[in-house]
Amino acid sequence: MKVDILLGMQWGDEGKGKIVDVLTPQYDIIARFQGGPNAGHTLEFNNIKHVLHTIPSGIFRPKAMNVIGNGVVVDPVILKEEIEAAMKLGVDLHENLLIGKKAHLIMPSHRLLDKAYEEFKGAGKIGSTQKGIGPTYTDRTARIGLRMGDIFSADFVRKYNSTKEHHRKILAGYGFTETNEDYEKLWFEAIEYLKTFKFIDTEIYVNKALAEEKSILAEGAQGSMLDVDYGSYPFVTSSNTLASGVCSGIGVAPSKIGKVFGIVKAYCTRVGSGPFPTELFDATGETLRRIGNEYGATTGRSRRCGWLDLVALKYALMLNGVTDIIITKADVLNDFDKLKVAVAYKINGKEVDYVPFEVNDGIEPVYIEFDGWKQDISKCTCEDDLPKQLKDYLSFIARETGVRISYLSVGPDRVQTLKVNIE
Ligand code: GDP
Ligand code: IMO
Ligand code: MG
Repeated sequence: MKVDILLGMQWGDEGKGKIVDVLTPQYDIIARFQGGPNAGHTLEFNNIKHVLHTIPSGIFRPKAMNVIGNGVVVDPVILKEEIEAAMKLGVDLHENLLIGKKAHLIMPSHRLLDKAYEEFKGAGKIGSTQKGIGPTYTDRTARIGLRMGDIFSADFVRKYNSTKEHHRKILAGYGFTETNEDYEKLWFEAIEYLKTFKFIDTEIYVNKALAEEKSILAEGAQGSMLDVDYGSYPFVTSSNTLASGVCSGIGVAPSKIGKVFGIVKAYCTRVGSGPFPTELFDATGETLRRIGNEYGATTGRSRRCGWLDLVALKYALMLNGVTDIIITKADVLNDFDKLKVAVAYKINGKEVDYVPFEVNDGIEPVYIEFDGWKQDISKCTCEDDLPKQLKDYLSFIARETGVRISYLSVGPDRVQTLKVNIE
């Protein structure tokens, strides 16, 4: 068997969590491969609304095993809270959660560093979720990080104090005096709690499962335009959010990758700083935010909103080798008379149809306009139910990108999902 991948094609919050939950019955294993509690993946079913940050979005389906892969960064305090919240809903994570031993630990002092770096950047700040993601990946590369498997080592506290001392020196250099002893206490309590769960060598587990013909879905966090290498650097997260990250994140070879599902919101949103060519600063943007309930699942911050950006989308599809597009939140556009889609950028008066290095320099989008469908699609159950104007909108996306659309999401609940085939 191969590993299928599900990823966000924009700036995050495309509805990945919902779609993973919908697709999970088709898989034996769901694995997160990067990111950490900067993610907020929302699932809605049976009148329950639940947000996951570190735990894969397959936990509410019986039978599937859920893996926190090696490429993920874990804050034990947040993971403990997540596990406890899911347990309250009757999910026994002692049975269906496996934690990769090579996943790196977010220390309390990583959170302080995140804050110190953002304060130092001032107006140029990234708008990080300040969960300690960037500093933890930095320490992984600097080879001073702590990994989940280390918590069982007799040497763990010494290792912890040694890395904390590095952080103390950096923080002192920044003149940053805030401390978080209370959080540190919770952190060590959470470490003890997590010891009662199952830990694995992710790469061995995953490759054995593939050899045994088990199916795996790798769940991405963030979005392609937040990738540390190909996103709008430096306004990005600190991990590889692309399909390529799956190979290093769970330890599988490129030849083991199967389908790649690209999740695309029917318009665009972004949280935090950085370029967003199709951003709307007017009443239309406000309407998208209100109807789409565009407020961060992790930080509660309001999301910037704008029209669909086909230039950025084609770039993301190319980088990921997407085989199937899944469109979400089409219902949010129900009441619009007209819709716009950016098909090119103007930079310094010159028109380009790709995302250039100079993406931070100011881009003017070139739009084409579509008629809205002006009707409620949230109760549609099959492709034939869909209004002609929506079909035209979707056909245009599939035709322009050369990638088929295979699902359409028309509401937040897991049942509001249609299997379609639009080429
Ligand atoms: P993720 O980070 O990609 O998992 O997405 P988030 O959970 O951060 O944000 C997506 C939001 O949109 C959540 O509140 C979902 O419940 C909601 N959502 C997902 N799909 C749809 C949809 O098709 N229509 C509507 N109206 N809401 C949706
Ligand atoms: P999900 O998985 C949207 C953004 C932050 C900030 C930048 C860097 O829910 O789609 P970081 O905390 O990584 O240092 O923040 O990336 N960001 C996200 N935006 N959805 C996410 O995750 C995000 N995770 C990080 O807002 O601009
Ligand atoms: Mg989210």
